[in-house]
Amino acid sequence: MRAVDLIRKKRDAAELSREEIEFLIAGVTRGHIPDYQIAAWLMAVVWRGMSSAELAALTEAMLHSGVVLDWPDLPAAKVDKHSTGGVGDKTSLVIAPVVAAAGLYVPMISGRGLGHTGGTLDKLESIPGFNVNLGLPEFRRVLEKCHCALIGQTPEIAPADKKLYALRDVTATVESPYLICASIMSKKMAEGIDALVLDVKTGDGAFMKKQSDAEYLAGLMVETGTRMGKKVVALITDMEQPLGRKVGNALEVEECIEILHGQGPKDLRELCDELAAWMFFLGKRTKTVDEGRKLAAEMITSGRARDTFREIIRLQGGDAAVVDDPARLPRAKHTARITARQSGYVTAIHCEQVGIASMTLGGGREKKEDSIDPGVGIVFEKKIGDKVEAGANLCTVHYNLDSRLPHAVDLLSRSFEIGEQPPPNSPLVRKIIGATETE
Ligand code: URA
Repeated sequence: MRAVDLIRKKRDAAELSREEIEFLIAGVTRGHIPDYQIAAWLMAVVWRGMSSAELAALTEAMLHSGVVLDWPDLPAAKVDKHSTGGVGDKTSLVIAPVVAAAGLYVPMISGRGLGHTGGTLDKLESIPGFNVNLGLPEFRRVLEKCHCALIGQTPEIAPADKKLYALRDVTATVESPYLICASIMSKKMAEGIDALVLDVKTGDGAFMKKQSDAEYLAGLMVETGTRMGKKVVALITDMEQPLGRKVGNALEVEECIEILHGQGPKDLRELCDELAAWMFFLGKRTKTVDEGRKLAAEMITSGRARDTFREIIRLQGGDAAVVDDPARLPRAKHTARITARQSGYVTAIHCEQVGIASMTLGGGREKKEDSIDPGVGIVFEKKIGDKVEAGANLCTVHYNLDSRLPHAVDLLSRSFEIGEQPPPNSPLVRKIIGATETE
């Protein structure tokens, strides 16, 4: 078999066989196929798409390019949640301890910020000392002890995805629903979980701007996971504005701590409860999703989720005292305010621009080798539907470097739209794909 023939075949919209896809992925994993040929094949996939059989073969080949974890000795279901990426999208830090506190296991392998979206690993690393680079034996140990461990992709987990992902990032081949599906599902299936809840974001701050595209991707992921014998549900959720009020790594950890103390913004709390409820239901901890909602709330009001979060941080080398004293988290040195030019109602917040502004301040990476400034970010005073007076504060920018401020201020000032009438309310969870709320 020759890679060039398989690139030509896909370029001409023909279907590759399982053997042909396995040949390509083995070549990626072992380094036998040069990057330029892999990149050409990826671009052909972006243009031509994939059949269900090709997608299944690709996901399985990527999954088996590395270790697939299993947990025969754990006495309860292993469940996880994965988001396709958003702005202020910090639910993992709340959900993981909530679900673990109620007895299920959450072996969560997460990613870093991607493009204008934030990443769980970067947020966790803003907690002083927190180590996301545990090896697999340590990952097991932490999971067994406190029912949850939060790490990055190790070299053993889906190495083909790691290689493909790095190439996709620099060859404009991220935005293919087939490649996104295979990438996410190969990593999640490698965790050895029984059930997966997918938070598929749609709107200006998401990769899938159109709801129909988000639904298509969700359908592919649900089908792929179900075929692999897992329980999978996808929630299509709103990303037309940042989730919660804080964007930026340490600021987002602080907001999650507020939620774990029973405070914090309503939208963030609602989505955390909803996603955790589905994890409880699919993991058979509750009989219905509604019971799951109640259980999630109980884990927060009783303080048990907070205790679990402290324990996760401690076992992963971090400063667990941040849970009771968030002032220990890194803070930017300066703040600047963005004010309203007119009175009215906030009708839109251009969410991708907010993500880019946070990245500009140092909250994300423009190039792979860039380092993160954990204390920077944006705190929103006003969100969509809020009434504002001219001159009122819309949001506060937290920054360290003066040189980065003007561009961020420019982006944020242009992000807000103010009109005379409040916009209609739009639901946070727009659609559920792949399951119903009761057995
Ligand atoms: N997240 C992933 O892990 N992979 C993708 O392709 C996109 C988002």
